Amino acid sequence: MARRVYSEPGDRIVSRDPVEVKRYGGLTRLNHWVTAITLILLALSGFAFFDPSLYWLSGLFGGGETTRWLHPFIGIVLFLSFMLLFLQLWRYNIMRREDLVWLSNFRDVVSGHEERLPELGKYNFGQKFVFWAMFWLILVLIISGVMIWYQFFPDLVSVETRRIALLTHSVSAVLIILTLILHIFAAFWTRGTLQAMVSGRVTGGWAWRHHRKWLRELARRQRADPAE
Ligand code: HEM
Repeated sequence: MARRVYSEPGDRIVSRDPVEVKRYGGLTRLNHWVTAITLILLALSGFAFFDPSLYWLSGLFGGGETTRWLHPFIGIVLFLSFMLLFLQLWRYNIMRREDLVWLSNFRDVVSGHEERLPELGKYNFGQKFVFWAMFWLILVLIISGVMIWYQFFPDLVSVETRRIALLTHSVSAVLIILTLILHIFAAFWTRGTLQAMVSGRVTGGWAWRHHRKWLRELARRQRADPAE
């Protein structure tokens, strides 16, 4: 059986006072923020078609026609960008037994008694849930999006199938926006987390408190090879 790994090759403990831990490299952060910006642009342009009361949002993109033309292309950028992120991170988002224990003791997470919870790898259940929800929803959005991209693929599917694809696209869009709200809320609620995606580093205390198994693995790795 393949050995479980909790840390990416670039993760490392930086010997400073206070100790810092490198969590994301520059390219991964760039990749994340491109993904984030494209999803927000898609939500804004998509809402313009969602209901006539929101049509004014198309003004942000230069009017209805440009918005309709632009939206699918931004969708392709989101898909490619997320897949790039996915390829880097999927391994560390595999659900483990300790994640279910963490979930069943969610009350301790909310009340700040994390010492009662199992030690975790790079991500917790909530982060993994968001990761996989975004993966599946983006897949459904891109497939249903191509089906309703009348301008380029007018004969791809029948009218009935296109109607179902449109409904699927709208429902998935609402679900991914809810997932994004959860993701942003968690990033702000857990103090010190935003820093991971801004500077790429977290404090040793943050890593010890929230992702101790990941930190222990880094310490072991660096003890075995101090030059790493
Ligand atoms: C604009 C709002 C966003 C903020 C403030 C934000 C913030 C963050 C932060 C702070 C992290 C690091 C968490 C950690 O390492 O513990 C993170 C990770 C991540 N974010 Fe975002 N993010 C945003 C939008 C998005 C969007 C739109 C997506 C995807 C569609 C996304 C996908 C991810 C993924 C995949 C990770 C890595 C976590 C994992 O693999 O489980 N984020 N984000």
